[in-house]
Amino acid sequence: MSFSGTGKIWMNGKIVDWANATMHVASHVVHYGSGVFEGARCYKTPQGSAFFRLDAHMRRLYDSARIYRMEYHLDCDALTNAVVETVQANGLDACYIRPLMYRGYDTLGVNPLPCPVDVAIIVWPWGAYLGEEALEKGVDVCVSSWSRSAPNTFPAMAKSTANYANAGLIKMEAILDGYSEAIALSPEGYISEGSGQNLFLVRDETIYTPPASSSILPGITRDSVMTLAQDLGFQVKEQNLPREMLYIVDEAFFVGTAAEVTPIRSVDRIQVGPGRRGPVTTAIQQAFFDYINGVVPDRHNWLRPVEIPAVTTANV
Ligand SMILES: Cc1ncc(COP(=O)(O)O)c(C=O)c1O
Repeated sequence: MSFSGTGKIWMNGKIVDWANATMHVASHVVHYGSGVFEGARCYKTPQGSAFFRLDAHMRRLYDSARIYRMEYHLDCDALTNAVVETVQANGLDACYIRPLMYRGYDTLGVNPLPCPVDVAIIVWPWGAYLGEEALEKGVDVCVSSWSRSAPNTFPAMAKSTANYANAGLIKMEAILDGYSEAIALSPEGYISEGSGQNLFLVRDETIYTPPASSSILPGITRDSVMTLAQDLGFQVKEQNLPREMLYIVDEAFFVGTAAEVTPIRSVDRIQVGPGRRGPVTTAIQQAFFDYINGVVPDRHNWLRPVEIPAVTTANV
C-alpha cells in the first residue's frame, strides 16, 4: 500500500499538511536509527470511533524513549492528547496511528545527546497488514536465517527504529523466498517472533507464547490476546519454545496491532495442523474482533471513545 499523500501530520506541536511534514537529511535518526515509535489503531464501533489501548501504546513509547535517554518536552498525557488531535484533524473514523520520537538535526557524530528530540504523529487508513484473505485462510511462513538481537545488544523491549533493520532483513528474506512472513529465533535458538508480530502456538488446546526473554517486543495485542484467551477458559503458557514445536503444533497464529490475529497455515512448507484456521485461533480471533469492533462490552477498559468531526477533503 502506498500513501495517498494527503492528510495532516503533527510535528512538534504543529499540525501541518502531509507534503510539508519534512525533516533535514542530516537529522541524526536518518543516519543512526535513533528513534522510537508506536503503532496503535483507532477502530470504528457502533458507538462511534475508539482507540484500542492507546494508553498502553503511549506508555511503551515513553518506556522506549527512557531506555534510549530521550526526553521530550511534553509528557505522556500531553502527547496522548496530540494523538487525539491528529486523528480528529484528519477526520478518520478508523486509522493506524504512528507516533515517532527521534533525534533531529544538530550534528552527525554518533553521540545522539546533542541532537534535539523531535516528535511526529502520522495517521492513515490501514487495513489487514497480511491481507484480508490471510485473516481467514492463514499465511505461509518460514523460519528466518536471521536471529533476533542478543540481550545486551539492541534492547528488544524498546520499539526502536534501529530494531527494524533486523526486522527488514527477516521480512525481505521471507518474501524473496516465497513466504508471507518469517519467524525469527532468539540468539539461544528458541522461537522469538515475526518481523512485526508476536506468535502463539496451540497444542492440545493449550496456548503457548515465547517469554520476554526470547528477544520479543512485548506486544500489546499479545497481552490482550492472553487476557482474552484466559477469559475463554484456555490455559496460556509463557515459556521458552524450541523450533521443532512449530512443526508439531495443532495451530499457530501471529498477533499485532497491524496483523491483528492472523492464522499461520504452514511453517517451512510443513502444514500446521490441517492447514487451515483451527478452532482455538477462530475463537480468539472472534473474541479479539468482537472486542475491537465494540460489539461486546468493554470489560477490560481497553477502548477510549473519540469524537471524530466531519472534515472536508479541502481541509485534509
Ligand atoms: C517486532 C514486533 N513484535 C511484536 C509486535 C506486536 O506488538 P503490538 O501488539 O503492541 O502491536 C510488533 C508491532 O508493533 C512488532 O513490530
